[in-house]
Amino acid sequence: MTQANHGDGNLMPMDPSLQAHAHPHGHPHGPPATQSYGDLWRLIRLSNPSGVLLFFALVTAAVGAGATLWFPMLTKHFIDGLGAGGMDWKKAGLLAAVPIAGSLVGALSSYMLARVGYDVVAVLRNQLIAKLLNLPISKFDESDTGERVSRVVNDCQSISGLVTSQAVGLVSNLIVLGGSITFLLVLDTRLTLTLLVCIGIAFAVVVPVGFMMNKLSQELQDRTARLSGILTHVFSQIRLVKAYTAEAREQARSEEETAQLRSIGLRTARVTVALEPIMGLAITISIATILIYGASRVGAGDIGVGTLTAYILYIFNITTPLAGLTGFFAELQRARGASSRIAAILREEGEDAQPGLEPPRPGGTLEFREVSFAYPGKEAPILRGIDLVFAPGRTTALVGISGSGKTTILSLIERFYAPTGGEILYDGRPIAASSLNAWRQRIGYVAQDAAIMPGSVRDNITYGLSGTFSDEEVRAAATKAGALSFIERMPEGFDSNLIEQGNNVSGGQRQRIAIARMFLRDPEILILDEATSSLDSETEHQVRTALETLMHGRTNIIVAHRLFTVMHTDRIYFLEEGRISGVGTHAELVGSHPYYAKLVERQFQMLPEPALKLPA
Ligand SMILES: Nc1ncnc2c1ncn2[C@@H]1O[C@H](COP(=O)(O)OP(=O)(O)O)[C@@H](O)[C@H]1O
Ligand SMILES: [Mg+2]
Repeated sequence: MTQANHGDGNLMPMDPSLQAHAHPHGHPHGPPATQSYGDLWRLIRLSNPSGVLLFFALVTAAVGAGATLWFPMLTKHFIDGLGAGGMDWKKAGLLAAVPIAGSLVGALSSYMLARVGYDVVAVLRNQLIAKLLNLPISKFDESDTGERVSRVVNDCQSISGLVTSQAVGLVSNLIVLGGSITFLLVLDTRLTLTLLVCIGIAFAVVVPVGFMMNKLSQELQDRTARLSGILTHVFSQIRLVKAYTAEAREQARSEEETAQLRSIGLRTARVTVALEPIMGLAITISIATILIYGASRVGAGDIGVGTLTAYILYIFNITTPLAGLTGFFAELQRARGASSRIAAILREEGEDAQPGLEPPRPGGTLEFREVSFAYPGKEAPILRGIDLVFAPGRTTALVGISGSGKTTILSLIERFYAPTGGEILYDGRPIAASSLNAWRQRIGYVAQDAAIMPGSVRDNITYGLSGTFSDEEVRAAATKAGALSFIERMPEGFDSNLIEQGNNVSGGQRQRIAIARMFLRDPEILILDEATSSLDSETEHQVRTALETLMHGRTNIIVAHRLFTVMHTDRIYFLEEGRISGVGTHAELVGSHPYYAKLVERQFQMLPEPALKLPA
């Protein structure tokens, strides 16, 4: 995929984060998807959580909640018993055993739910990654990939949070809350009604605050995703940043984001800091009230000490679930937002793989008929009704100034995009009618900047190839590509680690690794997109020799702007502004195409390169 190099390397925007900057405010992927609980539900169903685990988790949660509910009542009986006539060891044992057993069962339940939750996230993440890998190239043209990826990670986490901690909480909290209020009412109706009014007031404060917190945390996630998007971009282009001494600029841009993150964090902290003492105070006041009121009733002989104790324990019982419930609703909101974004990605259409359809037999002619093309979402046509024929076993060249649409033609052959008009045929059948993977496996694409994947030299030579290759085969391929000598000079030979971006190998070495890969891949159609144009003449000579061996017996398509590299090809297409303005052999074009002739004259005069005129 990394070989999908669109546009010439030198067309890369100077500002590596232009893209990230294109949407400084608002939602980066157009209008936010409509949020509904339907998506959340569908995603949870899609990830197919284990029903058995869930069931046992819920049962154990209920048992744990039951123990919590039982404990104050046990305490009451124990205390009442103490008053009536001394220690009852059986009751004391039960009093100790119930909370311990309850905690153990509760822990078990939490663990089981955590397992369900992490299973859900793992499945969702895998599905999302599969989907992202399957999206057509055009989707990567339109939005910032780094941000998308960071979103995948965070959004899945939100859903996991809901399923794991909050779902357990919800069940046991509802049981404990409902049960405690029932017991409270049974213990003392008047006290309880007063208490419920207090709780109602507290809720009226807490719920809106909860939603506010939720908004803040949403914003925090969005901003964090943007920051990681920007940073991914910057660090993947770190050489450019340094070459243009743009560190300060990038620092400033990131600081804008970190300042935003800081201010959101502070706003969150202000709300929390204000809320916590208020809640604490509310609880203290209610307990004090109940204690004073309760004590007076004990004094009057209306209720026993045991009842009052149980009563206070139940109040403690309801504060935790109340806080938990507000947390649940905030988490639910967040998961709803996350799931609508995840669902939107999952709904996007992937590449049509048509796995059932095999491509036609090898050895056919590849043909463009009246092909027109405009990039998705762009008005300007890049190709306007072009006819091309790539004959099997022949070498065909595409020539034209930078931006004339050469790489675009190659992208259409790779089926990165579909033509907007006309047909691309292979052996008389539309290429779109065959299995995408089988089709791409027939093509070998060597771009101007051969990309390196993180891994060893060997991994890179065998990258993307099915089947296993012996050390001898890999070595033979490297030899044919003229890569053996520099690989052997590396400290660990074929096991030497190549890092991302391939910064520890030169352009020519990367190119030769790519060519070695092609020898193993043995493609029927070989595409060379300016494969030698960024190399110095000595390296170019070595690479060219390797390429000549590689090209033998294949359908070769060569793109080059240096005309002497295509002089000996069987046919040259001259491309001007998306149209074919001339076709023929080098000699024919020199005779028939004045512009081509002029370019040839100019380029061949320039050999050897004239020295730069130095200022006097
Ligand atoms: N992914 C893309 N999205 C939109 N426009 C593109 C994309 N890639 C290339 N273009 C445009 O298409 C035109 C042809 O580009 P390209 O085929 O790369 O030219 P060449 O390889 O001949 O230099 C250019 O104007 C370029 O800006
Ligand atoms: Mg190009």
